[in-house]
Amino acid sequence: MIGKQPLIVGNWKMNLGVRESVQLARNMLEGLEAPRQTEVAIAPSALALFAVAEVLRDTPFKLTAQNVAALGAGAHTGEVASEHLAELGVAYAIIGHSERRIEEGEDDAVVALKVAQASMHLVIPILCVGETKAERRAGKTKSVLKRQLAKGLMKIKSSAPLVIAYEPVWAIGGKKAAPLKEIRAAHEFIKKTINRSARIMYGGAVDAAEAALLAKEPLVDGLLVGHASLDATAFRAIIQAYENR
Ligand code: PGA
Repeated sequence: MIGKQPLIVGNWKMNLGVRESVQLARNMLEGLEAPRQTEVAIAPSALALFAVAEVLRDTPFKLTAQNVAALGAGAHTGEVASEHLAELGVAYAIIGHSERRIEEGEDDAVVALKVAQASMHLVIPILCVGETKAERRAGKTKSVLKRQLAKGLMKIKSSAPLVIAYEPVWAIGGKKAAPLKEIRAAHEFIKKTINRSARIMYGGAVDAAEAALLAKEPLVDGLLVGHASLDATAFRAIIQAYENR
């Protein structure tokens, strides 16, 4: 059944071109044994998905999209449809990442449509939720998470496979992950709030040392890794931390 193993996803964001993505995927695979107790996926840019799919063919590593269209295939210039990602073998899609919410103005209603589209086409949504520094300071962490979860999940069945990524916006791109105590509290709150089966992963400044700590946390079902996933050695060390758990 999907959902048993922890999931580690490397989010390459908009950092690499097609050639660089293929090279990094190859470097990552070099000398890397097939993980035994961890599911590993990488999320290249949309442009590089096709080429990276070729590199990952016949390996246990899965492909993740960084975004999907809010609507199905059709006259929607510049968008990428979930059904076409599914055709390429994309297993997961990151949806509602804070960079998209903030930079592209994606709101909860759009996020809900994207979650529904991905899910409908059997691309498992990774719904990102998390509070900004200002929201945390104002004591709004729980209300923000509650709203993002309630609205983001409004259009999918409670039985549909799902991953939630807790990504405190204030930790993303930084040098230090959120303190364990706060990660635990947020994961516990998310688990209680959704009240359905889902893997709940953490994302925000994860490196290998942090991964070794998080791997021991029973409520942390995996990691969404940004900048550390751009370094094949660092990403392999993160996977190893989960394998050695
Ligand atoms: P980071 O990014 O690891 O670079 O903080 C995480 C994310 O945005 O998913």
